[in-house]
Amino acid sequence: MSTSCLPIHPLLRGPVALTHLLLRHYVLPGSQLVDATCGNGKDTLLLAELAGPDGHVWAFDIQEAALQRTAARLAEAGLSRQVTLLHTGHERMLELVQQPVQAVIFNLGWLPGSSRAITTAPDTTLAALEQALQLLVPGGLLLITCYPGHAGGDAEATTVQTWAAGLSPRNYFVWQMGQLNVSATAPFCLLVQNGQRR
Ligand SMILES: C[S@@+](CC[C@H](N)C(=O)[O-])C[C@H]1O[C@@H](n2cnc3c(N)ncnc32)[C@H](O)[C@@H]1O
Repeated sequence: MSTSCLPIHPLLRGPVALTHLLLRHYVLPGSQLVDATCGNGKDTLLLAELAGPDGHVWAFDIQEAALQRTAARLAEAGLSRQVTLLHTGHERMLELVQQPVQAVIFNLGWLPGSSRAITTAPDTTLAALEQALQLLVPGGLLLITCYPGHAGGDAEATTVQTWAAGLSPRNYFVWQMGQLNVSATAPFCLLVQNGQRR
């Protein structure tokens, strides 16, 4: 067979590409999903595509600009119907999202292309992570991309790592994935799977 007929594999440049690979493998059509930080909407778009018309996505952001960019991206792809955009903090997740949820993703830090002064913060991130665990079905995934390379991002990344490392290994399977042949402060991804049996 000619190599031009082979499928093109996604390039795993950075942790977000890795989270997308995992989501593509795990998420089934009809799933209920949460994007805790929709930003420019790239992650929300993938979740909306994977959930399909019978599923649903709740996407949070505290910045109007983020919601507008996400809404435009979804509209262009014809995927707006299965997404609820929420202009509020992800620390209200438990109140606003309907269970059961198959996956929750966090992409921490600031909105690319906007003020770096508006960023996720350890206290609200931790509150939202605790709520995300309460929403997750057995086998469900929580994916968190951390950015230790920017001011404040290092402390937040440590807070999230400490929280995740403290979860019971009987109830949760916790993984850390980061590219080894780059700077020690490069972004990395944490995966928490709800290990309870169905
Ligand atoms: C790195 S960006 C997200 C990137 C996005 N997932 C994408 O695909 O483009 C982080 C986002 O988190 C948002 N954010 C900060 N604090 C938040 C909070 N408490 N709740 C929800 N979003 C928040 C910021 O406004 C910013 O847009």
